[in-house]
This record gives sequence, C-alpha cells and structure tokens, in this order.
Amino acid sequence: MCGIVGYVGEHNPKDVLIDGLKKLEYRGYDSSGIALRSNETVQVIKSTGRISDLEEKINNTKLINSNLGIAHTRWATHGEANEINAHPHKVGRVTLVHNGIIENATELKNTLVNEGIVFRSETDTEVAAAVINKCYDGNPIKTITEAIKLLKGSYAFGIIFENSDKLYAVRKDSPLIVGISDTEKYIASDITAIVKYTNKYVLLEDNEIAELSTKDAKFYKNGEEIEKKIEQSTTKIEDANKGSYKHFMLKEIMEEPLVLQRTLNKYINNMDKIFDVSKYEEIHIVACGSALYAGMIGKYLFEEKANIRCITECASEYRYNKVIYDRKTLVIIVSQSGETADTIAAMRKAHEEGIDTLAIVNVKTSTIAREAKHTMFIEAGPEIAVATTKAYLLQVAMFSLLALKAANIKGLENNYEEVIKEARRLPNLVKKVLNDHDKFEEVGKELLDAKDAFYIGRGIDFAICKEGSLKLKEVSYVHSDAYEAGELKHGTISLIEDNIPVFAVITNEKIKDKTESNVIEVESRQARVYTITNDGSITNHHYKYVVEKISDYFQPILVVPPLQLIGYYTANERNLDIDKPRNLAKSVTVE
Ligand code: G6P
Repeated sequence: MCGIVGYVGEHNPKDVLIDGLKKLEYRGYDSSGIALRSNETVQVIKSTGRISDLEEKINNTKLINSNLGIAHTRWATHGEANEINAHPHKVGRVTLVHNGIIENATELKNTLVNEGIVFRSETDTEVAAAVINKCYDGNPIKTITEAIKLLKGSYAFGIIFENSDKLYAVRKDSPLIVGISDTEKYIASDITAIVKYTNKYVLLEDNEIAELSTKDAKFYKNGEEIEKKIEQSTTKIEDANKGSYKHFMLKEIMEEPLVLQRTLNKYINNMDKIFDVSKYEEIHIVACGSALYAGMIGKYLFEEKANIRCITECASEYRYNKVIYDRKTLVIIVSQSGETADTIAAMRKAHEEGIDTLAIVNVKTSTIAREAKHTMFIEAGPEIAVATTKAYLLQVAMFSLLALKAANIKGLENNYEEVIKEARRLPNLVKKVLNDHDKFEEVGKELLDAKDAFYIGRGIDFAICKEGSLKLKEVSYVHSDAYEAGELKHGTISLIEDNIPVFAVITNEKIKDKTESNVIEVESRQARVYTITNDGSITNHHYKYVVEKISDYFQPILVVPPLQLIGYYTANERNLDIDKPRNLAKSVTVE
C-alpha cells in the first residue's frame, strides 16, 4: 500500500526510481509519480494507471539534469485515484512523497486555507507538504523536526527542498529504510526496491530524520545528530524477480517446500526456540486476512491438542471491542508484513493492558517484529504477490509447532517423536502435492464461467475453507464464501443451484461422515462438488483429490496448496492481473 523510493547519487535518478517503483508494484497502487531536482528546480511527473504509463510519460518529457529524486506509488485513501492526487506534492519549496495517513489533515488544512494557502488536491499529503513549507526556515533538519510535531497519524516521507541538494526522510508508524552505498544513497519502503543496487541499509525508528547526500548519510532525532547501525539484508535480487514463472503467486506457491524446509529446520532442530504457550490460560489470536485464517487453524490446534482456551478475532474489531483479560492471557499477533495498521493497533492495545504478546511475523525489520514482547519469525523470504501463499503456509506451520510443544509440555502428546518425524517429511509431501499442479489447473479451467462458489468443512477443515475461499475470490474475482458445513442449510443453501461449484474439505476423521452428508445435501441440489480429502474411501463426487493422511498437527499444510493453486489457475484462465488484483494492497498500512 503506497510505495516510496528516493535517490541521491552520481547518476540521473530516473532509472533507479522507475525500477524501484516496479519492484514496489506488489504493494498495490492506482497512480504514481516522480520528482527530480536540479539547481533549485523541481520537475514533477505523475500518471494514473500502471508504472508503464508513468514510464511512457517520462520518456516523452524532456527531463532536467538531476542527481536527486523521489518517487511514489499511491493507493488512494484521501481523494480518488487521479493525477492531481498522485504524489509527489509540491508546496512552495517543499516536494513530498508520503505513505500513511495524517489524521489531523482536515484541521490543519482549515487553518492553512484561512492563511491563504490554496490546495490543489484532496490529499492529506499536500497538507503535510504545506505544513513543512510553513515551518521552513532554511534549515531542513530544524524544519522537519518542527513540522512533525504538528502532524498526527502515520507517515513515511521522502522530502526534497528546492534549495538543498540533499534528500531527506522521516517516518512514524509507516515503514521506510535508507539504503547505503559509497556514492549513492536511497530511501525505500522496503529493501526489494533497491536490493539491485545495495543490500546495506539503515532502519529508521519513529521520528528519526535522515539527511542524505552522494557521500554522506546523517541521522537526527529531536534536532540532535545520532549514530545509526548499518544492517545487511539477506534479500537477494532473485527474490524480487519472477524467474521463469508467469506470476509471482505461482513462483511463491512452488517455493513452499523450500521455505517449509528452512523454517522447520530452524525450529525442529531446536525446539527451545519455540515459544512456550503452555503457561497461559487463554490465547487471543489477532490478525487480518489470511493471517487471521492461519490463526483459526491455530485455535483448533491449541484447544484440541494443548487444551488451551483460544479465541480469534480480526484486528480491526479487536482494537475497538471490549476485551476481557481476566485470565493469564497471551495475545498472538500474526502478520506477514508486520506493518498492517489494525494489527499493530491490536498489539499495542494488549501492551497497554500489560498483556504478553507473541508475534508470528515474516519481515524482521517490521514494526510488529520490533514491538512485540516475543517473536517467532517464519522464513518465507520476500513475498511479492499480493495474495499471500507461502507466508500463510508457514504461519500455519508455526501454529502446529506451538501447539505440539505446548501439548508435549502438558503431557498431552504421547506420540511426540513420531509427530516430529512426520514434520521432517512435510517439505517432500508438499512437493508431491505441487507436482500434481495440472490436476488443479483442470479445476481452474472448469471454473472459467463460475460466478459463485462455496467452500464447506467442519472444525479445522472450516478454517482451511476460509483461506481457500479467500484465495479464489481475491485473485479470480469469483464470488465465494466459506461455511461451516452444517450451517449452510440455515439460509445459504437457497443459493445452491445447478452446477455451482462447492469445495468440500474433509480431513477430520471424527466428523467426516457429518460433512459427507452435507456434501450429499448440496449435490442433491445439483451442485458440482470438488472434494479435497485425506481419505481415499470418501465417495467420488464430481472431483476428488486425496492427500496423504498425516498427523492432525500438520494435515492442513497438505490441503491448503491445492486450494491455493485452484485460486491461481482460475484467475490464470481468466487472464487476470494475478499478482496485483484490483483494489487490493499487500500491506494495509491504514485503518
Ligand atoms: C492484505 C493482504 C492479505 C494479508 C493481509 C494481512 O489484505 O492482501 O494477503 O493476509 O493484508 O497482512 P499481513 O501482512 O498482516 O499478514
């Protein structure tokens, strides 16, 4: 959601900026723009649509000779997606790109309008630019220090001052890193945008200001210069490229055996690294989107296996609902990006109440990774496709390991060693499922004309259905819904009609007969039933895919990849923009 790149160095910034914006496309955007500076002139070029549209516009414009520039992809929040609202915004001597939301923008704008400032756009960013311009006294560090005292909300800013040849950046509650090489300095929303040029970076903390020139990187807080540590990223150039795959989503699904291997090796060979949840009486799992659905699997495992009471709630509700913490509670925060605004707020709410938090997170430099009381990192590497796949699977694997360890400590698991042995086989088992990709491609073809689909399952299978359904709708735009199999007949069964696809997930032996009878109910109403199961004896409906039966702790890890691939291939059949589905953002940094 919104991406920032900035450059100061020995070369013209244009190529670095365009290249960086392309690498940030995955975050989701609907317009983009760049600003170049030279000899007190700032040239701004903006466009709606794709980066390729901006690139075409830039190529048709006579550019100033510059070595300092900022660029932005915008996902509209304040005001529609048009060129005027696109960033950069220039007010007086200040040109700005921004990620985040200025919460007191309306109030500030009213004051500035009364003072005679004329605003062109509907954005909060133009207001921020006007505030910085108003504070400008010839000293950029002092100016930014004073201006941010007036702003409420979240921001990552890349700032150019007309009469300075340096690049400035500051952030609060929104990600931004500074890339360092000998003769070039960068700013970026994440390392993938600049990894082609450097893997050395500095992580800005809240309200720290970076002042960057070709040779120097200086950092300030509250007006004083501070020392910052230069970190080395392990992200590789290949991580930001599709390789031979048609889409990142497919590449990332196919990487699942590898990332599982990496994550399991890290934890299984050292179970001490797995956080001990057995000492808590209640667990709240709080997250958004797929991360929440991974948490729903966690809930079943904690309750069934480790006998720990557990609730799940989406972070946007949890942060505002009354939460009763009357037992020894652990709040588990799940987030691939570690930057989802609602999830961060939910975590902070728990901290305010003195509650322990454990974050299951992928991005190690993220806000959640840095603020949570305890962290367990999944080793997914960068995930570029907006729809999460490999990171989701690893989140599920983390819940399996957390529940297994807790059950073992509580003396509730008699087959601990066997379960661990099974965990070691998982990467190969997932590979075997993925090798059947043509079978799921067939399903995608059959769904070419589908307008609606349903997913049904009970217990842990229902949690899997939630993710299967989300994968289908977010990338293929087929309306779909997941239901507890027994609940469908309380209303929604009225929508079951001739040939409608219904996916049934049946892995839970205890209640498989119950789900089977719900399958028969929809089939009697002419639904086309696709069953994903670990039980070969289950009746062959329209389609059946059987995965190997393994320990309950890990069974979802084999069932989810087929559903991910079905979502992918359905979208592929429809020639959709799979890695960047309409209206979606990878990392939702606003409420
Ligand atoms: C967005 C993404 C989803 C993701 C959710 C939570 O909606 O499109 O794929 O599951 O955010 O993101 P997080 O980074 O917190 O896991």
